Amino acid sequence: MEIKTVGVIGCGQMGRGIAEVCARHGYQTKVTDVSQELLDNGVQLIERSLTVAAKRGKMTEQDKDDTLSRLHRTLDIGDFGDCDLVIEAAVENLEEKKKVFVKLDEVCPSHSVLASNTSCLSVLDMAMSTNRPDKVIGMHFFNPVPVMKLVEIVKTIVSSDETIDTSRSFADTLEKTVILAQDSPGFIVNRLLMPYLLGAVRMLESGVASKGDIDQGMVLGCNHPMGPLTLLDYIGLDTSYFIASAMYEEFKDPLYAPPILVKKMVAAGHLGRKSGKGFFDYK
Ligand code: 3HC
Repeated sequence: MEIKTVGVIGCGQMGRGIAEVCARHGYQTKVTDVSQELLDNGVQLIERSLTVAAKRGKMTEQDKDDTLSRLHRTLDIGDFGDCDLVIEAAVENLEEKKKVFVKLDEVCPSHSVLASNTSCLSVLDMAMSTNRPDKVIGMHFFNPVPVMKLVEIVKTIVSSDETIDTSRSFADTLEKTVILAQDSPGFIVNRLLMPYLLGAVRMLESGVASKGDIDQGMVLGCNHPMGPLTLLDYIGLDTSYFIASAMYEEFKDPLYAPPILVKKMVAAGHLGRKSGKGFFDYK
């Protein structure tokens, strides 16, 4: 199936990265969010990212203008009626996501593939809220989307081969490498990453080492680009808490149980980079 127009639900950290990459790779890209303010803010950040890319010589000014001309904002999902593929990157809440899929199923043509960028929730539950469960799939991107080369494609037990092929070919055109996972909480990456990140917090809680030394250990000892506590700040403590809780709920394995410190930091509004304070300060 040829994809010309892509819809992106949500213009937050992930949604705007996905929209930027789609528009950069030649797709007419429609993006929406729940308020004009969030939408305008997200698109402004895309514009800023493109400006930086142009200044660094990664794209010409003409490429930047062409990319922006392919990016269309709307507050009405009804405008997604000509999208061949929609990627949902809304809030990580299954009930909210199911509502989005119901609406997309109503407005999108029958050939359209509906994908979710969820990091851990059941793609099958989203698929079963539509009348086209075979055309629903997970497409999990990584933050920062313009830089990270991976897309996890998550197939449910009812995803059709054609849907998997279409989403794989689409990810190829975005110059991403695809890995294929079953619809199991956390898929491949978060299933491995979360116990590691949560383990770093438990190490801090138990006083084994300082936060600086825990991070330094993994940066210099294992060549990771960021230490685990910096990465938690980068992902967002609220998002990480949510992912860990959802995975613990499913597996009941203490490896995924969110540490008390993370819960308290979320309650205090110390969400990481986005709030200016997490394990480290960003003001
Ligand atoms: N958008 C576009 N480009 C960006 C960017 C952004 N937000 N952030 C950094 N870049 C680019 C820079 O322009 C630079 O490009 P250049 O080398 O061509 O000049 C390059 O990335 C490197 O950036 P910096 O020199 O500013 O900084 P770093 O070398 O420290 O790299 C980083 C920043 C790419 C974020 C790196 O620290 C990194 O890879 N960190 C780990 C990120 C990670 O693990 N992400 C996965 C999170 S888990 C996830 O997303 C799943 C979810 O479900 C939780």
